[in-house]
Amino acid sequence: MKFFIDTAEVDEIRAACELGLVDGVTTNPSLIAKSGRDFKEVITEITGIVDGPISAEVIALDAPGMLAEGRELAKIHKNIVIKVPMTEEGLKATRVFAAEGIRTNVTLIFSPVQALLAAKAGASYVSPFVGRLDDIGHEGMEGIDQIRSIFDNYGYTTEIIVASVRSPMHVQTSALLGADIATIPFKVMQQLARHPLTDVGIEKFLADHNKAQK
Ligand code: E4P
Repeated sequence: MKFFIDTAEVDEIRAACELGLVDGVTTNPSLIAKSGRDFKEVITEITGIVDGPISAEVIALDAPGMLAEGRELAKIHKNIVIKVPMTEEGLKATRVFAAEGIRTNVTLIFSPVQALLAAKAGASYVSPFVGRLDDIGHEGMEGIDQIRSIFDNYGYTTEIIVASVRSPMHVQTSALLGADIATIPFKVMQQLARHPLTDVGIEKFLADHNKAQK
């Protein structure tokens, strides 16, 4: 299973790379705005840090606008993946990008049928948002199971990126359900290796070791 980091903060990306946990990066307009940096500048810097797919999102809402923006972004680096919203216009753009050999990540997916449409349009990745569904009282991970079955039923090679990840449990369930990728905020990535019983165990081993030395 691949781990992407969901951030536009280059310090976080560097730190996560040191942990050996980064196979790719996803950004979105909110994350770029939070970084306070110029969009193209930060995306370009990320391409120098991570050698893997880096999602950069278009802002246009119409297919011609998405195509113009996406083609410019794709020129930045071979690893750029164009993030396109899950709309009818987004699907049109996805189809053209696929024909041009430009990879896409169809984002803001909240139902399995939306994921099916994106795969049919030739998306390289789909990003179902689990945390935002949980927030409104749905079981976000159920959709991942269903998307996995749909893609396997028809042999779609579109990869499933579990997005809007809020906890280590989301990552664990993604792996159990066979999602290809989880895109994980840095804070959650830091929680993955931790367990309170591991800390207690280390303390106990050290205490016993120190006692034995006396
Ligand atoms: C995915 O690519 C998105 O950037 C992201 O996972 C959104 O998550 P949020 O719901 O925490 O904003």
